Amino acid sequence: MAFNHNDHYHRLLLRQVPPEAQRGLDVGCGTGLFARRLAARGLDVDAVDPSEEVIAAAPAIDGVRFVQADITAMPLPKGRYDFISCLASLHHMPFGTVSGLREALAPGGVLAVLGCYRGSSWSDHLVSAAAVPVNAAARLALSGRPAASPVQAPVATASMTLDEVRSQAADLLPGAGIRRLLFWRYLLVHRN
Ligand SMILES: C[S@@+](CC[C@H](N)C(=O)[O-])C[C@H]1O[C@@H](n2cnc3c(N)ncnc32)[C@H](O)[C@@H]1O
Repeated sequence: MAFNHNDHYHRLLLRQVPPEAQRGLDVGCGTGLFARRLAARGLDVDAVDPSEEVIAAAPAIDGVRFVQADITAMPLPKGRYDFISCLASLHHMPFGTVSGLREALAPGGVLAVLGCYRGSSWSDHLVSAAAVPVNAAARLALSGRPAASPVQAPVATASMTLDEVRSQAADLLPGAGIRRLLFWRYLLVHRN
C-alpha cells in the first residue's frame, strides 16, 4: 500500500529545518527516504538505524552517511547538528534518549520528532475515529502506486500516551512544542 503515515508528514517535517542548516541526523532512518530528502535540501546527513536489513536496502546517495547502530549506545558529538529528526522511531527507545539528541544540537538547531503514542483518552479515540475514513480514502486513492521501498522497517507498539510524552518533554525539552496530528502521530519540535 503506497499510503504511509510517516512519509505523509515529510513536508511538514522539512518545514522545521532551519534555513541555514548544514548538518543533519536522522534517527531510526529505516531505508532512508527522509534522509535522502534532507540531503536533497543540501544537508550533510548521518542516518542511523540498528537494523542490518534496512541499512542494506537503503540506496546510497551523496550527502547521506548510513550508519548501522543503536542511537542509545552511540556517543553523539555535542553541538554538531543543525537538524535532528526521529520519524516513528522514538517509541522504540527510552524517551530519555532525547536528552542526548538535544545536546547534539548546534546553537539554533532543531530536534523534530514525528512520534507515535498509545491512545487512551476520549480525545485520542475521537481523533482516531476521524482518521479512519480519511486513511481509507487516502489508501484507496494511492492504491496503484508502488511502496517507496520493498523492505519494511521494524515497527513497535507505542507504550507512552500523549499526556506522558508531554510530561516527559516538559522535563527534558523545556519549551518544546507538541501537537497532535491526524494519523496517530504527534509532532514535537524543540529549538536549541
Ligand atoms: C517504524 S520504523 C520508521 C523508519 C523510518 N524513520 C520511516 O519513517 O519510515 C522505526 C525505525 O527505528 C529503528 N530503531 C529502533 N530502535 C532504534 C535505536 N535504538 N536507534 C536507532 N534506530 C532505532 C528501527 O530499526 C526502525 O527502522
